Amino acid sequence: MPESRQGEAISLEVGVTVAGARTFYLESYGCQMNFSDSEIVASILAGEGYRSAAQPDEADLLLLNTCSIREKAEETIRRRLREFRALKKRRPTLQVGILGCMAERLKNQWLEQEKLVDLVVGPDAYRDLPRLLQHLGEGQRAVNVLLSREETYSDIAPLRLDSNGVSAFVSIMRGCDNMCSFCVVPFTRGRERSRDVCTILDEVKGLADGGYREVTLLGQNVDSYRWAPDDGGVISDFADLLERVAQAAPSMRIRFSTSHPKDLTEKVLHTMARHDNICNYIHLPCQSGSSRILELMNRTYDRNWYLSKVDEIRTILPDCAISSDIIAGFCTETEEDHADTLSLMRYADFCMSYMFCYSERPGTLAARKFADDVPEEVKKRRLSEIIALQNELSLSHNRRDVGTVAEVLVEGRSRRSDERMRGRNLQNKMVVFEDVSACKPGDCVRVQIEEATSATLMGRLIP
Ligand code: 5AD
Ligand code: SF4
Repeated sequence: MPESRQGEAISLEVGVTVAGARTFYLESYGCQMNFSDSEIVASILAGEGYRSAAQPDEADLLLLNTCSIREKAEETIRRRLREFRALKKRRPTLQVGILGCMAERLKNQWLEQEKLVDLVVGPDAYRDLPRLLQHLGEGQRAVNVLLSREETYSDIAPLRLDSNGVSAFVSIMRGCDNMCSFCVVPFTRGRERSRDVCTILDEVKGLADGGYREVTLLGQNVDSYRWAPDDGGVISDFADLLERVAQAAPSMRIRFSTSHPKDLTEKVLHTMARHDNICNYIHLPCQSGSSRILELMNRTYDRNWYLSKVDEIRTILPDCAISSDIIAGFCTETEEDHADTLSLMRYADFCMSYMFCYSERPGTLAARKFADDVPEEVKKRRLSEIIALQNELSLSHNRRDVGTVAEVLVEGRSRRSDERMRGRNLQNKMVVFEDVSACKPGDCVRVQIEEATSATLMGRLIP
């Protein structure tokens, strides 16, 4: 999942306005899919006449869209709930709702153990919010955590939140059938299902008409996208979808995430090669570089398969940047396994990685079958070695760009300095440059790259 980023606490406030209505305050945590779901929730609430509050103490209803991916993510939510408890003491009519993956994982336990929580809604049950809110209005507590095999919210127009008006996310599928042994997602988000091609194309065209310049197609595993029309017509796979999106929105940059190495096909790579507006960037989580650990993780590929995927990408798309997710200290991981991860990182030459210590999640295959036996300090040390190597790789990647010209889609002012603009190149690298007056968000400009750090390219605008 891109890239907000998974399991990290990024909060988001929502803005919709309907006069004289009840108010809600919504905060989102976790992956981009969760943020995308919050746009669906906001749209449904606006339809019910709710308006948003900028601060929790201005709202009648506080909502947390939660993440369960690692224990730390859940702890963050519990801390936030403790802050909400203080608010509720002062204002007993305040209602609190838990949405998303933690709602799904803990279900009724919320109501049994946590007096504060009035509403619990899983990721596939947002369409039921109007009925659940009615229950709340009648003074009852309400729960819906049913998972669905069909729900894709394809007919609900997301209310674009926190948007820079330049890039947007479009969900193309939900759920995951992969059953990686460490992962809670199949339990919290249910079975894989794909969204109707036509509604995706309509949404993308709507964004292009609204002036957006970049779209990221989102799914837990985009490469297993598969849509069969009811009339028995031609089945679309992910490469077909990419092709159609690229053609339908020639003025937009197209990105996608996340890819599973076992499902990323040559057809997708050739589709990327054919279209200049599909960005040369693939997020291809390896998780580990050791074949033995990959097998325990149930990733269904081994080290050599992953490395040959990297070779295939480099052959078909020589300029393609590859990023990864890496877990340190999975069950039984030895120093030799860890060394395999470091050497795979070097071979794949990741431009960027999201890196984590293994966190055992209740109910997962790994929690049931294996002991979480790598000591915490060993996990941390291995993680810091992985991070140090990634910084080295990112820096040398970026240094290679010095002296080249980057095509940059401008996103806004630099976060560090108002005198500079920031944007991303085709490989998703952050580029910062001066000359604020010469361009605006949404412009595509050329920047001569002059300096690089491990995180950023810096340069000069070419008039
Ligand atoms: N512990 C640590 N990291 C995890 N991830 C998923 N589950 C766990 C876990 N139990 C990581 C994986 C995945 C990313 C979204 O989060 O690397 O790709
Ligand atoms: Fe996203 Fe849920 Fe996974 Fe967290 S647990 S990363 S919110 S799918």
